[in-house]
Amino acid sequence: MSEIKKIGILTSGGDCSGLNVAISGVIKAATLKGWKVYGIHNGTEGLTEQPLSYEELTLRNFSDTPWAKTAGSYLGSLNKGIKPGMMDEVAARFGQGARELGLDAIVVLGGDGSMGVLKYYCTKVGLKMIGIPKTIDNDTPLTDLSIGFDTACQVCMDAVDSIESTARSHHRAMIIEMMGRDAGHLALRSAVAGGADVCLIPEIDYTLEGIIAKLEAVKASGRTHAIIVVSEGIKTEKGEVLSAAKNLVGEKVHGGIGDYLTSVLSEKYKGFQIRCTRLGHIQRGGHPVYGDRMLATLFAAKAVELLDQGKTNVMVGIKEGKVSYFELEDVVAAGTKNVDVNSFYVKAAQLLGMYVGEI
Ligand code: F6P
Repeated sequence: MSEIKKIGILTSGGDCSGLNVAISGVIKAATLKGWKVYGIHNGTEGLTEQPLSYEELTLRNFSDTPWAKTAGSYLGSLNKGIKPGMMDEVAARFGQGARELGLDAIVVLGGDGSMGVLKYYCTKVGLKMIGIPKTIDNDTPLTDLSIGFDTACQVCMDAVDSIESTARSHHRAMIIEMMGRDAGHLALRSAVAGGADVCLIPEIDYTLEGIIAKLEAVKASGRTHAIIVVSEGIKTEKGEVLSAAKNLVGEKVHGGIGDYLTSVLSEKYKGFQIRCTRLGHIQRGGHPVYGDRMLATLFAAKAVELLDQGKTNVMVGIKEGKVSYFELEDVVAAGTKNVDVNSFYVKAAQLLGMYVGEI
């Protein structure tokens, strides 16, 4: 048994569906052990800014309420990046906040970036940390899945279906831009499950001619509409990743490639009228689907079990169907998890006749 009496929990980075399920699971398992759970507001900010911003979370005020099953983050999250050179100063404030609250450990729901930053803070200030991976991008390394990915795939696949009905009515080619940052997991899975004709992801180069050849083949088959899924992180022919916004520390946030491709393809190819829909932040909503509810619950239980066993600096995860955990050091060293271009998802797309680029 551990010496733990009080733990913190926070959500860091872009939100997704299933976070509240995980928070609720941690409260349930921790309460049974007699631990207190403090929810930290707005990522690390609740501990690094004065006055501290947090609340005690209980079965009664959280797990037993409808909040526990909703999308988004009840605690609030932060996706703003951190200025280089500020890490030590913020770590010191983080440590001060954790001490003021009397935390013995912290559970961090985050993606690959947050795991690295929080590992740094926690190591620096000597606070035990367990990570739980979450992101619609599914790019957290070592784990096969992160919380939120499944629901985002559902939202994206439903969007493909909705857009296909208008594409069919108007005999158009519709471009759908999906999130995912520099990884194409979300676009690829949604395109395969949704039955798209083209799917472009950052991991595979494409040509405009390749897209046009596929559109011509669709026309030749007698079908009068087409669906093109593009991941926001793909490049233009000039090798640029387009950006539609910046975060609070000035880093670019991807977006805009769908409109760009609509314009260049419309110039070169007149066989279909082309329109674009950028799904945007709708992809981060959606009621948590079964897969995410299950994953969030299993990860929460595992996180508390690991803390109780005295483990620290590890991230829970799932590998080939088994719930497991990985050293944070290895997670950080592995970097972003990209689509394996040799995976059967890519092969299946090709076997089904989808243009996935020059591969
Ligand atoms: O990492 C999650 C994610 O939704 C990415 O897919 C997307 O590029 C980014 O966050 C958007 O960030 P923001 O919420 O800052 O616009």
